[in-house]
Amino acid sequence: MLDISDLCAGYGHGPVVQGVNMKIARGETIALLGPNGAGKSTLLAALSGTLRERSGQVLMDGADLMKMPTHEIVGHGLAQVPEGRRMFAPMSVEDNLRLGTVRLAGRSASTVQERFDYVYKLFPRLAERRTQLTGTLSGGEQQMVAIGRALMSSPRVLLLDEPFLGLAPKVVDEIRRTLNTLRDGGLTMVLVEQKLDIALPFTSRAYVLIKGRVALSEASASLAGRPDLAQLYFDLAKTNS
Ligand SMILES: Nc1ncnc2c1ncn2[C@@H]1O[C@H](COP(=O)(O)OP(=O)(O)OP(=O)(O)O)[C@@H](O)[C@H]1O
Ligand SMILES: [Mg+2]
Repeated sequence: MLDISDLCAGYGHGPVVQGVNMKIARGETIALLGPNGAGKSTLLAALSGTLRERSGQVLMDGADLMKMPTHEIVGHGLAQVPEGRRMFAPMSVEDNLRLGTVRLAGRSASTVQERFDYVYKLFPRLAERRTQLTGTLSGGEQQMVAIGRALMSSPRVLLLDEPFLGLAPKVVDEIRRTLNTLRDGGLTMVLVEQKLDIALPFTSRAYVLIKGRVALSEASASLAGRPDLAQLYFDLAKTNS
């Protein structure tokens, strides 16, 4: 489904992501792990096209995403839930969700309505608050809007950048249950997450990114079973520094 080869990306001061290769099959859930500053968010931004300084090849079902502007990438079926939610606070929940459909150009009103129904069924809390201004929602509800907005474009691949950051355990559980539903429905997902006890049970495979390079790629279950996991993480970071 996604075939990433020799992906490099940065911000004009040399590459941050340095020659990443990944293969992600349809329906897989992938954990993207690594210390702060490893380049996880940069990698996702390069995939979704929000970062333009990038090179390499990213094939999604045969088409090269690197040759497409961001809106075409969304139209092709790849959506991102960015780090920090990036919400339009003075807009209602419904209008924020509608932003996710802007790129469903040419689709009928009933298709758009189906997406609203789908998202409101996944997040009943958003249905209750559809007219509320997003800026007045709790952090967890804002994250639901961010995920819902990405889902409005009917993605086949969903990239999630630390969706649980700063949220209370109860709402983390609620959002995890929704992501489990999406996973069990066959959606392909890449999850950036610092907490291994959240990331590993959710995913089938994990990549560890250190200083912009893939330092380890392994089945999540096997990684979770390593007694020396914390030490391994530490050693990987050291070897690559
Ligand atoms: N907009 C930017 N302009 C310049 N440099 C940036 C920008 N965003 C990130 N960087 C740099 O790129 C490197 C990787 O950052 P990135 O945000 O991708 O890491 P990360 O793995 O997502 O970290 P974290 O776990 O803290 O979110 C860092 O050195 C960071 O300072
Ligand atoms: Mg990040």
